[in-house]
Amino acid sequence: ASYDMGGHDTYMHKEIHEQVEAVDRVLRGRIDDRFSTVHLGGLNLDARDARAVRRVKILGCGTSYHAGMIGAQMIEELARIPADAEPASEFRYRNAVVDPDTLYIAVSQSGETYDVLAAVQELKRKGARVLGVVNVVGSAIAREADGGMYVHAGPEVCVVSTKCFTNTTVAFALLALHLGRTRDLSVRDGKRIIEGLRKLPAQIAEILEQEDEIKKLAEQYAEARSMLFIGRVRGYPVAREASLKLKEVSYIHAEAYPASELKHGPLALIEPALPTVAIVPDDDLLEKNRAALEEIKARSGQILAVAHQHQEKADQTIVVPKNEDELDPILMGIPLQLLAYHTALALGRDIDKPRNLAKSVTVE
Ligand code: G6P
Repeated sequence: ASYDMGGHDTYMHKEIHEQVEAVDRVLRGRIDDRFSTVHLGGLNLDARDARAVRRVKILGCGTSYHAGMIGAQMIEELARIPADAEPASEFRYRNAVVDPDTLYIAVSQSGETYDVLAAVQELKRKGARVLGVVNVVGSAIAREADGGMYVHAGPEVCVVSTKCFTNTTVAFALLALHLGRTRDLSVRDGKRIIEGLRKLPAQIAEILEQEDEIKKLAEQYAEARSMLFIGRVRGYPVAREASLKLKEVSYIHAEAYPASELKHGPLALIEPALPTVAIVPDDDLLEKNRAALEEIKARSGQILAVAHQHQEKADQTIVVPKNEDELDPILMGIPLQLLAYHTALALGRDIDKPRNLAKSVTVE
């Protein structure tokens, strides 16, 4: 592709910085202040259909799968519909039970990933209703789905996904709000979420202003052979995606774990040479997360926290602006995109085209 680099050295850097306007775009024209909900014209799902949904299953690969994990949590929280995400590549091979009361959602930046497309086709063959959450307009998955929403991130060139990930999580927040408002989400909570959504672009800009400090941290962490990423509930998919980003672009081994599972295994790995990145939102699990930091510190582990306030137990904290609890995951991964970027830069990696990877995998 030959899109203008706009003064940036890499597409990844450009795309990270485009997130302020990209998020503005996914919101534009969709918010309905009168009824504290959102208009999603392409869903092809009327209020009765929406109410008939008993379960939501989200399918995607790589970064899109992680965006789907965040989406599933938002749908459970805001609409109280049981929801989960699964790699499409696994789903299509396990002869899954296809249930007519489940709403299936296929997530894909390119709209061309073969594993996702094949899962959609198999679902449709079995009579399921499938929506697409897709970036590329008119792509195969968008055409195959019964309806859906475009995430309007604009063209993404770097192999590793950044702005499209963020926009997909925002799209899921809109969908969760919409489903919630056909059910028991109150007008007041609808308003609260809408206000939170409107704050996102400015808050992203605030995070991006910390780039110089994050760059310094990255230069330090570039020496690590391996890194652990932890988060709990809302923080866990954020940890997963941050770990994937670091692996893909810097080739440093990284592993993500739920913070709650530390004591069931990964604590054995903690030592000064294995830094931990901890996602610590200021929500009802804050004390639990602080206890996890203490466990790590007691074993001389180094900790970088991404949090809403300075964390005493951490060696460094990247402070991100607080939004509504349900929307926090949208923002918490953004500084870690910059961390992955600057780590890869310090190591001289081929940032826009990491070895062995392709932007979209359109074959079996
Ligand atoms: C490839 C890319 C990943 C991407 C995944 C899914 O593996 O390298 O960055 O997340 O495909 O792509 P999609 O276009 O379906 O979101």
